[in-house]
Amino acid sequence: MEFDFATLPASDRYRLLTSFVVPRPIALVTTRAAAGHNNAAPMSFFNVFAQEPPILILGIQGRSNGVEKDTTINLRRTGEFVVNMVDQSLADQMIVCGAGLAPEVDELKLAGLTALPALKVDVSRVAESPCAMECRVEQIIDYPGRAIVLGQVVQMHVRDDCLDAAGRYVRPEVYQPIARLHADNYIGSDRQFQLKKSAELADAEADFLASLLPKA
Ligand SMILES: Cc1cc2nc3c(=O)[nH]c(=O)nc-3n(C[C@H](O)[C@H](O)[C@H](O)COP(=O)(O)O)c2cc1C
Repeated sequence: MEFDFATLPASDRYRLLTSFVVPRPIALVTTRAAAGHNNAAPMSFFNVFAQEPPILILGIQGRSNGVEKDTTINLRRTGEFVVNMVDQSLADQMIVCGAGLAPEVDELKLAGLTALPALKVDVSRVAESPCAMECRVEQIIDYPGRAIVLGQVVQMHVRDDCLDAAGRYVRPEVYQPIARLHADNYIGSDRQFQLKKSAELADAEADFLASLLPKA
């Protein structure tokens, strides 16, 4: 089947894109409301796009009445947010935080999650999350009714058991985030496997990379 995105209605584009660009990692994004309480919302239009500078990107839609979601309003005002990664043990609480509720609702409290102060931003992080990244807003790209937010990571918290003793490599048997598939479907990461290049291919690559170095 072919779909011409120039003529396809936005709701069909959404359904197709979110059905096939999967699995998408889930950021449980915390922000500070103007009244001072915590706001939390899951976002799966989310990923990391660079390490220098360390940039995370969120895609945040507006509400059906055109008003921005609390997350967008808060991060525009404060310039700060925290991305809390979501594993299986946080799945039910993440769904609670995704409910469209009034701005005065503290979703962390509603979901029974524990707010911890962040180190470099005035936003709470989620104590139960295996990994939390404190971010400062780098840039907001506005489209009618939605915003793409680039945030620079300024601090990362990782629960000790998710890393090896040297704090370098993830322990995949411990850190098992969930990710969003189509509609209400999700997937865990408990069936990981390794893929390696053949020795021949690795040699060809090494030769090519060496050829790029300046000649002495
Ligand atoms: C798994 C999951 C992923 C979501 N991803 C997004 C997303 O990427 N962008 C978005 O605008 N809303 C997304 N939502 C919906 C928001 O979480 C929801 O609209 C929430 O109520 C927004 O809260 P806020 O007004 O406190 O920001 C997602 C919901 C779930 C459950």
